Amino acid sequence: MKPIQVGLLGIGTVGSGTFNVLQRNQEEIQRRAGRGIEITMVADLDVARAQSIVGPNVKVVNDARAVIANPEIDIVIELIGGYGIAKALVMEAIAAGKHVVTANKALLAVHGTEIFAAASAKGVMVAFEAAVAGGIPIIKALREGLTANRIQWIAGIINGTTNFILSEMRDKGLDFDVVLKEAQRLGYAEADPTFDIEGVDAAHKATLMSAIAFGIPVQFDKAYVEGITKLGAVDIRYAEQLGYRIKLLGITKRTDKGVELRVHPSLVPAKRLIANVEGAMNAVVVHGDAVGTTLYYGKGAGSEPTASAVIADLVDITRLHTADPLHRVPHLAFQPDAMSDVAVLPMSEVVTSYYLRLRVADEAGVLAQVTGLLAGAGVSIDAVLQREADEVGGEGATSTDLIILTHETREGTMNDVIAQMQGLPSVLAPITRIRKEELN
Ligand code: HSE
Repeated sequence: MKPIQVGLLGIGTVGSGTFNVLQRNQEEIQRRAGRGIEITMVADLDVARAQSIVGPNVKVVNDARAVIANPEIDIVIELIGGYGIAKALVMEAIAAGKHVVTANKALLAVHGTEIFAAASAKGVMVAFEAAVAGGIPIIKALREGLTANRIQWIAGIINGTTNFILSEMRDKGLDFDVVLKEAQRLGYAEADPTFDIEGVDAAHKATLMSAIAFGIPVQFDKAYVEGITKLGAVDIRYAEQLGYRIKLLGITKRTDKGVELRVHPSLVPAKRLIANVEGAMNAVVVHGDAVGTTLYYGKGAGSEPTASAVIADLVDITRLHTADPLHRVPHLAFQPDAMSDVAVLPMSEVVTSYYLRLRVADEAGVLAQVTGLLAGAGVSIDAVLQREADEVGGEGATSTDLIILTHETREGTMNDVIAQMQGLPSVLAPITRIRKEELN
């Protein structure tokens, strides 16, 4: 049978990895797909560089629309990124009857509802394994491998840049700004790292996992997003003394009141496997009612790891493209007419536990005042750590750090208590609050 023909929009790191792995493992991939898969056309603004990557037998153009207009092309891979031209091209490819493979988490987390509806109406597939956790087949696991389960929660380290920074902060005792500069020098962080360090990239990925896990529409606008820019090395140290590591987690959870969808730094017990995921690696923990807790670990970015996910989608589409569209796996795991409208909860309704660090005057009654406010709000204390003042501030210091771990409470309640504590004259600096997840 004639190989399925693929057009590639954008041949950067992931595009060239996809081309190379497809070539290198051509025979093995064909034995799996039942048919050859060939990239026969590439669009890139730098035509000369693109041509040097793919060689003379592949047509290279600088106009992505020429790829979409080519009737020989069955599948379009979109690796341009962003919401602008990428969205227009994906919609045009769908309208032209092409299947689409994309690694574009931002596009799908924000515009997924429109894109999946257009694809369903046209009877084409939009596949996005590479959009979440790079080479880890987490979309496949959630959508197919765990399909028997009522999924209860997912918690993932789904941004390698921030995990690298947090690992370095912990290993070397350095502050965020210093490590960020080093990460940029080493190529682990981009020149503009905003999406990574502010948690936006992780929130895009968490949004997609949430939709697939619970059969709800993609709702990035409802996600709570907090990055790692305000984390201090001091909190990483105190967390360590209490038996925890701090990780940037993407969390989505089913509760009686609705779905939690949030990204923020979290204390995780050091004994959990996910707490020991270091450097730029990714890991996702999924809890299903039948299977229990499962863990997926691997490279979340990079040329060939991400290509591995892109090609898995190409193989899926190659196997299924002649199937009746109604018999294919739904884009978001649940049949489009069986999606749920259960609400994503506002952050004030989320229930979790907390690490609090208060810089307090080292004088009689302070601990009683602080714990009194917690007791008054019905917040139960799990652990307290207070350093001797001179350990924290040098000999003769008159202030100290008071660290409190709480049991679970509503975020709205915790906001109120923190505001009350902040008003105490003996609390000398802004209170640090980091959420804590036991993941058990
Ligand atoms: N910038 C992402 C990360 C990789 O650091 O994990 C692509 O999503």
